[in-house]
Amino acid sequence: MHERKSTNKVGLIGTGMVGASFAYSLMQRGLANELVLIDMDTARAEGEAMDLNHGLPFVGPMRISAGDYPDLADADVVVICAGANQRPGETRLDLLKKNAGVFRDIVPKINAVNQQAILVVATNPVDILTYISAQIAGPETGRVVGSGTVLDTARFRYMLGKHYSVDSRSVHAYIVGEHGDSALALWSMANIAGVRLPDFVGANGQGYDQAALERILDQTRNAAYEIIQRKKATYYAIGLGLLTIVEAILRDQHTVLTVASPLTGQYGVTDMAISLPTIVGRRGIEEVLNLPLNTREHAAFQGSAQMLKDRLAELG
Ligand SMILES: NC(=O)c1ccc[n+]([C@@H]2O[C@H](COP(=O)([O-])OP(=O)(O)OC[C@H]3O[C@@H](n4cnc5c(N)ncnc54)[C@H](O)[C@@H]3O)[C@@H](O)[C@H]2O)c1
Repeated sequence: MHERKSTNKVGLIGTGMVGASFAYSLMQRGLANELVLIDMDTARAEGEAMDLNHGLPFVGPMRISAGDYPDLADADVVVICAGANQRPGETRLDLLKKNAGVFRDIVPKINAVNQQAILVVATNPVDILTYISAQIAGPETGRVVGSGTVLDTARFRYMLGKHYSVDSRSVHAYIVGEHGDSALALWSMANIAGVRLPDFVGANGQGYDQAALERILDQTRNAAYEIIQRKKATYYAIGLGLLTIVEAILRDQHTVLTVASPLTGQYGVTDMAISLPTIVGRRGIEEVLNLPLNTREHAAFQGSAQMLKDRLAELG
């Protein structure tokens, strides 16, 4: 891979609720010089570009435009949020058939103009679509980063922070595995200020309560369903999650995030993309961390990966 001048140019494919939320947070962060919006609904992409541009006097200059695939030729990062959304009662895995078709259309079009940009995948089911994208874009390159359980981990940290009355940024706890029903918490490593949860007492006097922690994990797993029931879709938090991933890439931050990437034998898993704490930087996936999972976590992680592989096999 040859070096080239960084442009801090971001492409976004899919300017629906998730894509627009990401774009809105990106313009406020002042991270990119340029943002190109692409959607099969070209009027929607144009309307979003106009609306975002009119906010620039409040936040500072950047170039925002609606465009098409050739405009991605010099993009550093392309975020993909295109595809059908999860309907009430529908699982993420029900979406697979529809959205796999969308990705088999989109990713070759990106590759035709740019084989170096890091691809950040948000569309569900995100793990399998990350795997399919990596198969097309080059599985060995680390250039495909799935948003995976970045959102689940944020929800988990928020809820734990609320439970203990501590800033969620001081809560170090990971949700790994599938972005969906089989996601699991790495309880054995969860800590606040370096103190494991069995020993931690919160600012509100809250000590260890296993039943309450199990409820928090359930609420984390069910959060998407609860929000979709009330407002049809989730988008603000994932928009900020995507911003965090893109910032880690453009600024080469080496941030540890629970993104999904195709595994190559970690914890016995191959041939599927799934989330683990991972160092994210300018090359996309820099390193999937090798953490000391306990036996229960290891087994649950392998079960989650196997479930995704079975689903992919069903797709054929
Ligand atoms: N990874 C996560 O944590 C997470 C969280 C929330 C939502 N999502 C997923 O993000 C995706 C987008 O959700 P949304 O609420 O923005 O949906 P949305 O329906 O509002 O937007 C989807 C957009 O994709 C466009 N699109 C569809 N097919 C396309 C194609 N082939 N090329 C270009 N554009 C295309 C549509 O025109 C639409 O504008 C869904 O799959 C949803 O499940 C993921």
